[in-house]
Amino acid sequence: MADLVSRSNDLIAPVISWDNDIEIVGGNGSYVTSVDGVEYLDFACGIAVGNLGHQHPGVKAAVLAQIDKLWHAGGVFRYETLVGAAERLREITPDGIEKFFFMNSGAEAVEGAIKLARKTTGRQGIIVFRGGFHGRTMGSVSYTTSKAAYRQGYHPLVGSVFVTPFPHPYRWGMSQEAANELALNELRLTLKHEITPGEVACFLIEPLQGEGGYYPASREFLQAIRDIATEHNIKLVMDEVQTGFGRTGEWFTSQVYDVRPDILVMGKAIANGFPLSAVGASSALLDAWPPGSHGSTYGGNPIACAASIATVDGLRNVIPGVKERSEHAFARFREMQSRYSVIGDVRGLGLMIGIELVGKGRTPNPQAWNSVGAYARENNMFILNCGPDANVIRFIPPLNVAPEDLDKGIDILDAALGSYEGSTG
Ligand SMILES: Cc1ncc(COP(=O)(O)O)c(C=O)c1O
Repeated sequence: MADLVSRSNDLIAPVISWDNDIEIVGGNGSYVTSVDGVEYLDFACGIAVGNLGHQHPGVKAAVLAQIDKLWHAGGVFRYETLVGAAERLREITPDGIEKFFFMNSGAEAVEGAIKLARKTTGRQGIIVFRGGFHGRTMGSVSYTTSKAAYRQGYHPLVGSVFVTPFPHPYRWGMSQEAANELALNELRLTLKHEITPGEVACFLIEPLQGEGGYYPASREFLQAIRDIATEHNIKLVMDEVQTGFGRTGEWFTSQVYDVRPDILVMGKAIANGFPLSAVGASSALLDAWPPGSHGSTYGGNPIACAASIATVDGLRNVIPGVKERSEHAFARFREMQSRYSVIGDVRGLGLMIGIELVGKGRTPNPQAWNSVGAYARENNMFILNCGPDANVIRFIPPLNVAPEDLDKGIDILDAALGSYEGSTG
């Protein structure tokens, strides 16, 4: 029989762009094993999904126990894990988030949040922030501006979506304060020239842009957005699909910044790899969503909810350790920045760290990323990039990564950058 890559090329649509041609057969903790028996340090983490790593014993036990009871109920019956998962979310989400609606993917949850905002406010306008990533479905791609290629060929997109800048201080060559002011001024101009505040249903924002290049919003910018939203009764929707479940040091980044969303979108790490996502909001808001005006056959699947309960319970002991691992990683990357001119910027929160690679005059340097990514793979480590120019190393290890594995991964990146700088003189 042909090898798996040939069989997959024959059968699987090439629209999915694979990171590599390696076939894996298993995973354990921070490692995956290839068909050839090679162990790779997995810092791709299923794109910020496996916050507890592969084969987490608590999640595995919960899933196996649920398999013996019930697999699917499809919105017909209620079952224990549905409510148990929501109870966990109520405990850990920011103040004011009280009720939940479960779905399957991040994009689907974003769609749900926007429908909730439009339906309950009776307004149509949606304001998004340039560089944001919110998914690939027809609606969510209309809110996604991290790369024009994601939208190319799919127009016309959903209407009444307005794009305003997100502060990118490094790229704009200015301080965080100056970037905040510039972005806020543009938002005010949008509300003056393009749509009146009274027609805006929501602001949709990632508190730390992921796919767009790992840009933290800053507390001041988010608070200013919060104030404008409150003044005009606009719903503040925070997309925490990538930033949630301890990734940035607290359960949610809105808690790191102490800025309250009206609607919280969750996905990815919510069930450590089982397909689940959720929208949370106040009881008042979710009670105003008329029964039957939205739905999902698989949303809140019993097994995925069991995995989510165990994930939240497992993360309780892990999140307190994120701060120390984060400080250690930041200190090492900043020290590397002093040695390698290719590192332009090191930024992020918790264990969501972006290392921007540049050439002369801060020009984005995707060649440096290609070299680093290939070196890492040759040295048995997977890591991803982000940013519209594919020049930002996306550092997202499992949150419970062993300290020696954290250092091992950083050592490989150090050597990769040294090798790149050596090759370019
Ligand atoms: C912030 C954010 N929102 C939404 C999504 C879409 O999630 P999914 O791919 O599960 O649809 C992603 C995926 O990367 C994301 O990072």
